Amino acid sequence: MIETYLPSRVYLDNSASTKLAPEVLAAMLPYFTEQFGNASSIHSFGQQAKGAMDEARRQVATLIGADFNEIVFVSGGTEADNLAVRGIAENYRSKGNHIITSEFEHPAVRNTCASLEKQGFRVTYLPIYENGLVRVEDVKSAITEDTILISIMHANNEVGTIQPIREIGGLVKEIRLERKHLFFHTDAVQSVGKTPVDVKLLGVDALSLSGHKFHGPKGIGALYLRKGVRINPQVTGGRHEKERRAGTENVPAIVGLGCAAELAKENLLEFQNIALLRDYLEREITRLIPEIKFNGDKESRLPNIANISFSYIEGEALLIALDLKGLAVSTGSACSSGSTEPSPVLVAMGLSKEMVRGSIRFSFSRYTTQAEVDYVLSVLPEVVTRLRRVSPLYKQAMAIEQHKY
Ligand SMILES: Cc1ncc(COP(=O)(O)O)c(C=O)c1O
Repeated sequence: MIETYLPSRVYLDNSASTKLAPEVLAAMLPYFTEQFGNASSIHSFGQQAKGAMDEARRQVATLIGADFNEIVFVSGGTEADNLAVRGIAENYRSKGNHIITSEFEHPAVRNTCASLEKQGFRVTYLPIYENGLVRVEDVKSAITEDTILISIMHANNEVGTIQPIREIGGLVKEIRLERKHLFFHTDAVQSVGKTPVDVKLLGVDALSLSGHKFHGPKGIGALYLRKGVRINPQVTGGRHEKERRAGTENVPAIVGLGCAAELAKENLLEFQNIALLRDYLEREITRLIPEIKFNGDKESRLPNIANISFSYIEGEALLIALDLKGLAVSTGSACSSGSTEPSPVLVAMGLSKEMVRGSIRFSFSRYTTQAEVDYVLSVLPEVVTRLRRVSPLYKQAMAIEQHKY
């Protein structure tokens, strides 16, 4: 008898976090031990640390087509978003008080905008359509004389849709010919390392990225800030990071981020093939499980995310049942897990309550294998059937169905 290989644990929650690449760990280790200097020190220990940081800055800049001095190291995606949104808004307040963002931004942007509203800024939250995309016309018509900042994410963390950032960037550039103080930030935490990201091509003034989303360490990220764009630093103190972010730099994490960025660049082309595996999963699920819905535009999306709603069941129950089978997936965004609030992203996309509750995100990494996807397909249909059997919603729907005949 031929034995099929079944992995014992399968991780398909790579949009929440990814495993550290072994090369990244190896690059970081010396900076925890013999190369422990403070990068601001003049002696050789300090200069070694400074050299390693310079190399990492170059690696991150190269990944996104930025210049060396346009990269600010911060503690992660959340801080990068805060620094961009609050830093730009506060710095250019005398030029206007209007900010444009979307209804389905990550809380790192959404809640920062909400806190700016309390400080007197006016914020427009653009709608998201059923396909999970903002419309450039909506951005255009929301811009007023007072607008100083537009912050729209590059790829969404729940459904993976890629927003028309390049078109919005073009629009901003056009308007800036007459109005100098209009800036464009994008949260590219989910897209960097998954799809090509070039700050010049996108036409953005600021861009956030985070190490742990592309096989780097947690607690480290970077903000790209176009030369000439000023920000109010949010962490004040010494003159680190050209006075844009104070505090002794986390050299091991920065080295890890740089190494992860270089690996991401090397693997970017090949990573696009992960879409084949994702599409295979979607195709097979369609064949094996009735009454499901795929969420988000099928064309403009990351290659590694599938977001699927299963009628009649709770995503939470499905997640737990799959976890018992050794399969890790997610419902809603990682940062809102632990709360029972329905996903604001799917709500903004206009899904019914039931479809929002029954949604699951499968997110792949460059380490995901065919055997792992086959494992998903070997357990998922049975788990869904079992949960539906005990679902009052399902029973109700079946009773109505039978009543028809
Ligand atoms: C789109 C997006 N922005 C920001 C963040 C926050 O990044 P970090 O976890 O590095 O703070 C996340 C994390 O899930 C994200 O998906």
